[in-house]
Amino acid sequence: KRCIAVLTSGGDAQGMNPFVRAVVRTALFKGCQPFAIFEGYKGLVRGGPEYIKALNWEDVDGWNAQGGTNIGTARCKEFKERAGRLAGALHLIEAGIDALIVCGGDGSLTGADLFRAEWPSLVDELLNSGKITAEQATTYQHLTICGAVGSIDNDMADTDSTIGAYSALDRICEAVDYVEATAKSHSRAFVIEVMGRHCGWLALMSGICTSADSIFIPEEAVDPKTWRDDMCKVVTKHRERGKRTTIVIVAEGALDSDLTPVTSEDVHKTLVDRLGLDTRITVLGHVQRGGSAVAFDRILATLQGVESVNAVLESTPSTPSPIITVSENQIQRKSLVESVKSTKSIAAAIKEKEFSRVLQLRNSE
Ligand code: F6P
Repeated sequence: KRCIAVLTSGGDAQGMNPFVRAVVRTALFKGCQPFAIFEGYKGLVRGGPEYIKALNWEDVDGWNAQGGTNIGTARCKEFKERAGRLAGALHLIEAGIDALIVCGGDGSLTGADLFRAEWPSLVDELLNSGKITAEQATTYQHLTICGAVGSIDNDMADTDSTIGAYSALDRICEAVDYVEATAKSHSRAFVIEVMGRHCGWLALMSGICTSADSIFIPEEAVDPKTWRDDMCKVVTKHRERGKRTTIVIVAEGALDSDLTPVTSEDVHKTLVDRLGLDTRITVLGHVQRGGSAVAFDRILATLQGVESVNAVLESTPSTPSPIITVSENQIQRKSLVESVKSTKSIAAAIKEKEFSRVLQLRNSE
C-alpha cells in the first residue's frame, strides 16, 4: 500500500483543513494510506507517533468548515539545515512514507523540492550510518513531492489564487464595512492596514470591494515627493462631493519608489496634519487569517487536494516536482521550481526598483 503524507507549513490559511481532508479521502479512495505530519516540518524533524499519524476517513469529518489547520503548522529553522532534513528522511522511511504533499507558501515549497533533490544522498548517509537497512534504501530510493499554495497573500506566480486568499479578502471587506459604519457616524477617516508582506493583492482587491479612497501596495510604488499631495487631493475631492468617510487601505509591505515603507502612521499623520481629519488606524492583523474558508477556498482546496494525490500517483522519478495551481478556472500542474523562481523574481524586481517590470510580471501571472 502506497503511503502518502501531507503537511501544512508556514503561516496558516483558511482552506488548509479542506485541503488536508481532500488529500486524506482521495488517498483512501485510491487505496493508499494517508498520513498527516503534525506541526509542519518541525514534526518531520522530530518524528515518531506523536507527529506522524495515519489518518482515517472519519478523522477529517467536518474539516471543510473549520478554519486554521488542525494538523498544525510552524516556521521551522531545523529543516533548513541538512541535519534536520536527514532526521526527516529517517522518520519518513521508518513510517514507510515515500510521498509528501506540502501545503504552504513559497519558502515551504522550496524546502520540499530541496528535500527531494537531496533525498538520494540522505538515504545513502542513513544506510552508511546503519540507521536503515539495504532493503529500505532500495525501497525508498525516491521521494515524491507535490506542492499546493496555502497563503492568504495570493503571492505565488503561475496561479490565479492561493488557498486562503479569498477568505482573507472576505474577512477584510467585512471588517472595513463595520469600520465604515462608525466612520460615517463621526465623519472620520480610517487607515486600514492589511497583510501582504510582498504582495498587494489583498490591499488592492479589498480597496476595490470597499470603494476605498486610496490604496498603497508594494507593486506600485508611489513617488515619495508627491504621494501625500496626491492622496489629499483625492480625499478632498470625495469630501467635497459630500462623502462623510475616508478609507485608505495600506498593505503592510507598501513602499515608495525609494523603497521607504509607506506606513499607516505616515498616512494617518498626513490626513490629520494636511486635512485636519479626525483619523484612526485599524490594523486588521491575524483576524484576516481567522474564521472558516469561504466557498471558493473550500472548492479550490478540495480540487487541489484531489489533484495533489493524482499527481503523486502519476509521478515518476524523473517528473519535476509539481505545484498545483488554478489558471482560468482550470486546476493545473506546473513546475514547482519554475513557479517559485517567478515569484522570487517579482520580489527581486521590487528590490531593484524596477517597478514597470514588477507590473509586467504580475500581469503575466
Ligand atoms: O504570509 C502570510 C502572512 O499572513 C503575511 O501576510 C504576514 O506578513 C505574515 O504571514 C504574518 O506572519 P506571522 O503569523 O508569523 O506573524
